This record gives sequence, structure tokens and C-alpha cells, in this order.
Amino acid sequence: MTVTYDNSLQNVPLAPPDAILNLSALYKADTDPHKINLGVGAYRDNDGKPWILPVVKKAEELILHDPNVDHEYLPTAGLQSFTDASAKLIFGADSPAIKEKRVGTFQTISGTGACRIAADFLARHRKAPIYISNPSWANHQAIFTDAGLEIKYYQYWDPQTRGLAFASLIETFKSAPEGSIILLHPCAHNPTGVDPTFEQWKIIADVLKSKNHFPFFDCAYQGFASGDLDRDAQAVRYFVEQGFEMLVTQSFAKNMGLYGERCGALNVVAKTEESAKKAVSQWCKISRAAYSTAPSYGARIASTVLNNPELYQQWTEELKTMSYRIINMRDELFKHLQELGTPGTWNHVVDQIGMFSYTGLNLNQVNTLKEKFHVYLTDNGRISMAGLNTGNVRKFAEAVDWVVRNVQ
Ligand SMILES: Cc1ncc(COP(=O)(O)O)c(C=O)c1O
Repeated sequence: MTVTYDNSLQNVPLAPPDAILNLSALYKADTDPHKINLGVGAYRDNDGKPWILPVVKKAEELILHDPNVDHEYLPTAGLQSFTDASAKLIFGADSPAIKEKRVGTFQTISGTGACRIAADFLARHRKAPIYISNPSWANHQAIFTDAGLEIKYYQYWDPQTRGLAFASLIETFKSAPEGSIILLHPCAHNPTGVDPTFEQWKIIADVLKSKNHFPFFDCAYQGFASGDLDRDAQAVRYFVEQGFEMLVTQSFAKNMGLYGERCGALNVVAKTEESAKKAVSQWCKISRAAYSTAPSYGARIASTVLNNPELYQQWTEELKTMSYRIINMRDELFKHLQELGTPGTWNHVVDQIGMFSYTGLNLNQVNTLKEKFHVYLTDNGRISMAGLNTGNVRKFAEAVDWVVRNVQ
């Protein structure tokens, strides 16, 4: 019997559009001159424009005139001057784990690529469920599902207090099967902007240790959250000190503004040098079959900034420029809502940290903001603080005030 295959493309179902990209398209199509885009998580300056960090421009100049730069393939594990510096950035330049060579670092296609390589690795070599926060960055679910991992959730957001559901999260970690994978956001949790305090991190570490769970930190905002690179790495470094084996992703999209250059890293902290090497060898195998090697340009920029003391110092200042502007917008928004006497409590706007604020606005209110006020935010009420500036924050506060009073 001859076998025939249906090779018609007609039967391929249309995939739903990505919610955030769809929101950007709606914003673009809106002709209102005062429209506000609070959807996409990308930094904007006070004029609402993307910001190329001046230190990145300097690094690009140096690369342009470097006679040793060519367009050859990078090694499969990436540009070593970048991966070495990236590990020092997250674990600390004096990290004993780095000195003991128990850290392995692999260059990835930004933070998303790091999560995906990690997901494929975990699906093959650790047959355990992964616990992700509810809510979390929407792509986490897509990435870990596509890799074939079993996903479970821990409650993270308490709608009553508009803060961390700490007791519930601890309960879930205690009752999870021993050896589960626990995905954590070390700073600037997306989408809530709510982080555990350092004391709470210590309790989380104790519980994870007592249950032999495997921590996986997805770090997309180091330095961008507080403006202080060390402070934002505190949780990760504490877990390393506590002797965990774990994975840590890094992204240079937000903190260096290298969004489109797709520059990131995946790190393993293992008990031994041999285990770290084995993990990285598996990542090389996975990436080789998916896209071969990572792109070089963003890694060269990041490497130049991270390895040049003068540029590094400048970068730390520019990180403050971005994070302080966002913190300032939180204060401004809070001040305007107070002035307007908007019903409800709004302290969470100033208590939250990083790119996002989880406003607590419901879907009807979000839709009215879009339709009546030309303000674009995600359905879960998350706003990108970077989309606010001195020119639009009052208008946004007035729109919020209106929907809170008029829409249930
Ligand atoms: C929690 C989290 N992880 C990972 C990423 C990955 O971003 P990128 O792939 O642009 O580095 C993001 C970006 O929004 C994020 O918020």
C-alpha cells in the first residue's frame, strides 16, 4: 500500500497573535495625538523615545575601530570575554563559586533564549515539575510547555493587599514533591513589580533546601530595578552562599538597552567543576541543533562595557538614570492619584519596583482605558512605568481616576 501525506498548508490553524505585540499594533493604529503606550516592557526617556545608552555608543565606536574584530562564528558557548564578565556581574567578582570553577556560563539569545535552553536541558536531564509564579511573565508558560516540562504554579500576588502572597508561596514550596524545580525572579518581578524582602528570601532558601528543590533564577533586570547591580543580585548571591546547585539566566536587553541585539547568558552553579562542564556541554549540543551559535554584536558591546573600568563606571551611572526616572514616575503617579482622591489605596504603585506596576485595575477598566482614553496596557492591569513621563502622567492619573469611579 502506498502512503500519501497531506501537504496542503490550508489545514494549518492560525496561531493567536502575541498579546503584547498585538497591543503595540493597536497603539500604532490609534491616531489620537495623546495616546499612551504602557504595554511593551522597553525603556523610554522622558520624551517617550527609546534611549541608546551613551556608554553603548562609546563601546560601538571602539568595536568599529578594533582591527581584531571580524565576522567569524563565535564558539558554541559564546564569546568568552563576555561570558566570563557576565558571570562576575551576577555572582560577584570575588565569588568563591567562580574561583572554584563550579560556575559554567553560556551565551544565549537574550533572556528568552536562556530560558529556552534551560527548559530543554531540564526536560532532558531533570524529570521534575517546574513551579512558576502566578502570575508570571507570560512567555514562561509558553517556553516550559513547548519544552515538554510539567508546569505547576505558586501563588505570588495577593489581590487583597496588592502585595506578595508570602504565606501561600511558602506553603506551596513545602508541599511540592521533593526535588521540584522552582522558577524565581530575583528582582523586579514581571508582571507584579513585587519582590520578596531579603529576610523573605532567606526563608525561601531554607524551605527550598529542606525539600531539596532546584532553584532557577530568571534575571532579566539586574541593575535596572534599583539602579544598583549588587543589590539586584543579592538573592542570587545568597543562594550561591547557601550551597545550592542552580541555574541563573541573564539578559542585557533592559540594563544595557540591547533589546534587539539579543544578548544574554545562562549560568549553572554546580557542586563540582565537572558537573558545571557537563551542563554547558549539553547546552552546546542543544543550541547547535537549534541555531548553531549566538550572534556576536551584542556580546561584543556588553563585553567592552563590562571589561573596561571607565565604561563600566559610566554604565552604572546610566543605569541610575533609567531606574531613577522610573522610580520618579511612580512617585508622580502616586502624587496625582492622591491629589485626585482616587478611591482605593495606591501605595503599591510606589512600593513596587522595576519596569512594571501591577495596578489592580480589572479587565473592564483596562478596556475602557483603551477605548475612551487611548491608554494601552495589558489585560491583567499591568503598566510599563517606562511609558510614563512628565508630559503624560497627569493625563494617565485622570484616566485611572475616571475608570475607578465609573467602571466596575
Ligand atoms: C521575567 C523575564 N524573563 C525574561 C525576559 C526576556 O527578555 P529578553 O529575551 O528580551 O532578554 C523578560 C523580558 O520581558 C522578562 O520579563
